[in-house]
Amino acid sequence: MLNNQKSLFSLPEDIHYLNCAYMGPQLKTVEQAGIAAIQKKNNPIQIKPDHFFEEAEALRKAFGQLVNANAKQVAIIPSASYGMMAAVNNLPLNNGNTAIVVGEEFPSGYFSIARWCEENRKTLQVIERPSGRGAVGGSWNEQILESINQNTAVVLMSTVHWTDGTRFLLEEIGEKCKEHGAYFILDGTQSVGAIPIDVHAIKADALICAGYKWLLGPYSIGLVYYAEKFNEGRPLEESWMNRSNSTDFSGLTNYAHDYSAGAGRYNMGEFSNFVLLPMLHTAIQQILDWGEGTIQAYVKNLAIPLRPFFESNGYGIEEDNFRSPHLFGIHLPKDLDKTTLLKKLEDRKIYVSVRGEAIRLSLHLYNTSEDLESLMDVLDRPSK
Ligand SMILES: Cc1ncc(COP(=O)(O)O)c(C=O)c1O
Repeated sequence: MLNNQKSLFSLPEDIHYLNCAYMGPQLKTVEQAGIAAIQKKNNPIQIKPDHFFEEAEALRKAFGQLVNANAKQVAIIPSASYGMMAAVNNLPLNNGNTAIVVGEEFPSGYFSIARWCEENRKTLQVIERPSGRGAVGGSWNEQILESINQNTAVVLMSTVHWTDGTRFLLEEIGEKCKEHGAYFILDGTQSVGAIPIDVHAIKADALICAGYKWLLGPYSIGLVYYAEKFNEGRPLEESWMNRSNSTDFSGLTNYAHDYSAGAGRYNMGEFSNFVLLPMLHTAIQQILDWGEGTIQAYVKNLAIPLRPFFESNGYGIEEDNFRSPHLFGIHLPKDLDKTTLLKKLEDRKIYVSVRGEAIRLSLHLYNTSEDLESLMDVLDRPSK
């Protein structure tokens, strides 16, 4: 198993950062890539026409490698909401009247599909989380699977639930969508980069990821995989860069009406962002170098003491089969005041998030057993 990788980051020594699901910390190499990229524009002649495309191609390829997709089917986006809307706008209108989302889906996905339903007179069906403080993942997955039928146009959901890391049975859900001709649109922001995912194995039609969390990239840049069925769709904007003749700078006004191949038409305007692209590419390359499954194995091992601790102290937690190893919520004992507890965590410089009723913890290769010991120390004696 890989050793702790904290030395690759610049996190202060005195904090316990359990919050990658909020924002991934920056790798030192990513910082360096950003500085070098900013300096490049001091002398613009260093930025050649080829540079508008080369880094973008390399980035699409790296993300493709991460999720087992052809680079051609990857597009560069500024945010998850952008990638969602481009997918949703291109849904066919004749393959069912219901769109399915899970309860408390992240707003960027929820509002995109809600608008599509409103504009196209479709019904939005929300599969709510079953009530309970602990193990509800099994029955939630069952309800999602049962709700997919001939009338389902699309299922839109996150790969793992963003509030508490509930794991969804993506292969089974993808298979059921295919059986009934429904589209399967996924928000991978909270898992891609941390746990292995294969767009073909789960039969995803779109996998959309903001880049600043588990992809360890900067803010305002993300990536998406679109299946080939989107290749004739309509992008959100009409950038000169997504045309088949865009590399020919002297002939741009020989307007080419066809787009670049694959999902290239969905690349955002100015997708060659000369600062953000090398940073995100460096980050993804590091994730690829760590190797598939490495982060998952490390955090799983690190978290072994947590379950018995939570159970013996009255905290609710999902059973392991339906709990993501890198991101999970805990429900507090009824007599424990959340505000007091959060203050104590803050005093000990333990950084977590509160999402809904759960306290959300997220672990990565920079976390140590001391981080978790400090956490347990505070959770163990909250009235101290
Ligand atoms: C599941 C999920 N998707 C997307 C985002 C970010 O969305 P956007 O890129 O649209 O701002 C977040 C941020 O917390 C998230 O948790």
